[in-house]
Amino acid sequence: MTDLVFTAQPGGRLNGEFRVPGDKSISHRSIILGSIAEGETTVEGFLEGEDSLATLKAFRAMGVSIDDVTQGATTIRGVGLHGLQAPADDLDLGNSGTAMRLMCGLLAGQQFTSTLVGDESLSQRPMGRVANPLREMGANIALREGEFAPIVISPAQLNPINYALPVASAQIKSCLLLASLYTDPDKGETVLTEPAPCRDHTERMLNGFGYMVNTEGPVARVSGGGRLTGCHIDVPSDISSAAFFMVGAAISEGSDILLQHVGINPTRIGVINILKAMGASITLENTREVGGEPVADIRVQYSKLRGINIPVDQVPLAIDEFPVLFIAAACAEGTTVLSGAEELRVKESDRIQVMADGLAVLGVSHEVKEDGIVIEGGSFGGGEVNSHGDHRIAMAFAIAALKAKEAIVIHDCHNVATSFPGFSELAGNAGLTLQVSEN
Ligand code: S3P
Repeated sequence: MTDLVFTAQPGGRLNGEFRVPGDKSISHRSIILGSIAEGETTVEGFLEGEDSLATLKAFRAMGVSIDDVTQGATTIRGVGLHGLQAPADDLDLGNSGTAMRLMCGLLAGQQFTSTLVGDESLSQRPMGRVANPLREMGANIALREGEFAPIVISPAQLNPINYALPVASAQIKSCLLLASLYTDPDKGETVLTEPAPCRDHTERMLNGFGYMVNTEGPVARVSGGGRLTGCHIDVPSDISSAAFFMVGAAISEGSDILLQHVGINPTRIGVINILKAMGASITLENTREVGGEPVADIRVQYSKLRGINIPVDQVPLAIDEFPVLFIAAACAEGTTVLSGAEELRVKESDRIQVMADGLAVLGVSHEVKEDGIVIEGGSFGGGEVNSHGDHRIAMAFAIAALKAKEAIVIHDCHNVATSFPGFSELAGNAGLTLQVSEN
């Protein structure tokens, strides 16, 4: 494969009012739940990124009629909980851990065999975390070397489970919620307890489809045997994509941006809380609720940042935003300490190590820990960094250029298209000088 290279020139500031693409988590779920609902589901604001489009393709391969996405809009003609058909080929989920883990739960309850495959990064990510509790429910699931994709899922009868999640993972929780839809209601309900709050889009969306999930504090309860009814889903902009511009505006003098229609689900706003604690000027305007998800326009203006100890309870709420938060920390006055974030090591890349390697190139002093990092803020230079195919690392280093003294050249940026198609154009319009080349 060729190398997609971002070259970000130093300096500049961000200005303007704009909307970043749709939420990736909610886009995946709209296809999954819309497919197993009865009747039509219409979606607007759908993320036309490679990850969510791979999910769409996988459900088409299981016999669901889904319109091509045009300007974020699509219609899914749901086949009901028991209407999916055996796919003719392996289901290729590309780079997406969310799709793979959620679909393990859904496919464990089907009466046909399926095989899930992914790209090089996804094929190295841990899948025992979903396979093990699914097996406790009775699932028939085989992993390569006991841990990795390809995953072969064969028909089984599932039973409810009472399960305490070992990690605060929405993917594990959602996987088990989906599997529990296929359990025998006479055998009781599935009870899932999370160790700390993590994103609850599945619970909210199931309720939106008329399928009752009861949540009380850290416990979610659901029974099998119900049905989902097609509905309309308005996907808000992804706060994880907005985060690049939030940090960009916070670190570059003269910046003032308004990010429109961003999802501000309380389980996703760690990035706002952390940046505010660092002294960022962030205000939420026009706060409203759209289809069961809270949404706001987010204004961010430049202000001086200071280093902080990141509260551990914010870690799951900002789990995807750490690459760009490390850049905020590198621009802050003083020391920022992150701990309790070992999950970052099993994302699309080892985000602690890959970010640390890039920070070292820029001359940012830091110390890597097993479960986090300590970053000394100050000024930094440029150089050539490698994103290792991790979309969020590529975009984080592009944003860092706003504050760098020299250009930052970022290698292996293809996967930016998984979550943020149009990033370079949008960033360019907002004020970052970014060239894209293919070598
Ligand atoms: C996601 C959950 C998180 C997050 C991922 C999307 C989801 O993963 O990092 O990008 O949509 O449920 P974990 O559940 O592994 O924390």
